[in-house]
Amino acid sequence: MRIGIPAETRPGETRVAATPETVKKLAAKHQVIVQSGAGVMASVVDEAYVAAGATIGSAADALGCEVVLKVRAPDAGERAQMRPNAVLIGMLNPFDLENIAAMAAAGLSAFALEAVPRITRAQSMDVLSSQANIAGYKAVMVAANTYQRFMPMLMTAAGTVKAARVLIMGVGVAGLQAIATAKRLGAVIEASDVRPPVKEQVESLGAKFIDVPYLTDEEKEIAKGSGGYAKTMPPDWMRRQAELVHERAKLADIIITTALIPGRAAPVLISEETVKAMKPGSVIVDLAVSQGGNCPLSELGKTVVKHGVFIVGEPDLATLVAADASALYARNVLDFLKLIFDKDDALVIDREDEILKASLVCFGGEALRK
Ligand code: NAI
Repeated sequence: MRIGIPAETRPGETRVAATPETVKKLAAKHQVIVQSGAGVMASVVDEAYVAAGATIGSAADALGCEVVLKVRAPDAGERAQMRPNAVLIGMLNPFDLENIAAMAAAGLSAFALEAVPRITRAQSMDVLSSQANIAGYKAVMVAANTYQRFMPMLMTAAGTVKAARVLIMGVGVAGLQAIATAKRLGAVIEASDVRPPVKEQVESLGAKFIDVPYLTDEEKEIAKGSGGYAKTMPPDWMRRQAELVHERAKLADIIITTALIPGRAAPVLISEETVKAMKPGSVIVDLAVSQGGNCPLSELGKTVVKHGVFIVGEPDLATLVAADASALYARNVLDFLKLIFDKDDALVIDREDEILKASLVCFGGEALRK
């Protein structure tokens, strides 16, 4: 079987779907073709892929393989270079029905890794977790870089500097990593989330949880979410949360927002009124910006200053840690590949397998999500 690793073409995409470490494992059983320069933004040169057993080729060579590993969904130009019945694996966005229809029209069988279910067997393939963890870390780095004061408390001969107060909104994988990273830098941290188990996780990392009590059984039930993901909370709970957050935001120096609800617009958690009430020079890093943002003032791909507050709208912070983001993503992909090759290394797609069933978005030219 030929496995292709094309270079990513989407603007700002620095990651690559395979690294020398994963290529070495694949090349033991398959022919691996890497597009020249595919890994360069992720600190991997062609020679490293060759040493791992790959052949270096053109975009057409890599895209023309029977199995193609990508980070992002192919654009029209890339689809045109792929063969009908090719198997495509990547972060293809399972909610983008237009793209799924286009991939189906190109005759592809495509797996969107974001749709892999959150079951124990699939943990090593969880791209949302591997990339969100990196984004949470980098959000703190970007915030610290933008913030014009120190993060830790410092006692110097020239006087004492106060520790930065950091507020984390949405404590999933990214939020937890943001707490841990900000803690290491010496910040004082508060955090908010809708799901009940988060409180204990926040406190175990040494941060304070902003409790918004559930007043009805309905609120309690919705707050549990499903499959590890949050659901949209009732308006009254959101209003009470916003009131509390408004008060905490006034004291914060840095706010990192990561709140998402899969397949829906991100919830608005930091209103313009709240931004107005924040201290001049405070920083907001909005990780939800590509889903509409947790702050309505954030702008996709830009850092803006509004009401004296820096608002960072970098859509994909994992792309700024391209080497490690690729290393972890490539391992996720390698583990996923084990599900579609049998013991004789032949390609077999078991449509009844729970993980494959959930992530297969088109099969042999048929769109499975419409
Ligand atoms: P996500 O990226 O979908 O959302 C980020 C966070 O935003 C979540 O914690 C969510 O509850 C929160 N949120 C949504 N609406 C909010 C609001 N109005 N206010 C405040 N917060 C809000 O979630 P992510 O990071 O993908 O993970 C969610 C959970 O799934 C985590 O607890 C994680 O540990 C768990 N998980 C379980 C896995 C497994 O069992 N195999 C694998 C990966 C994650």
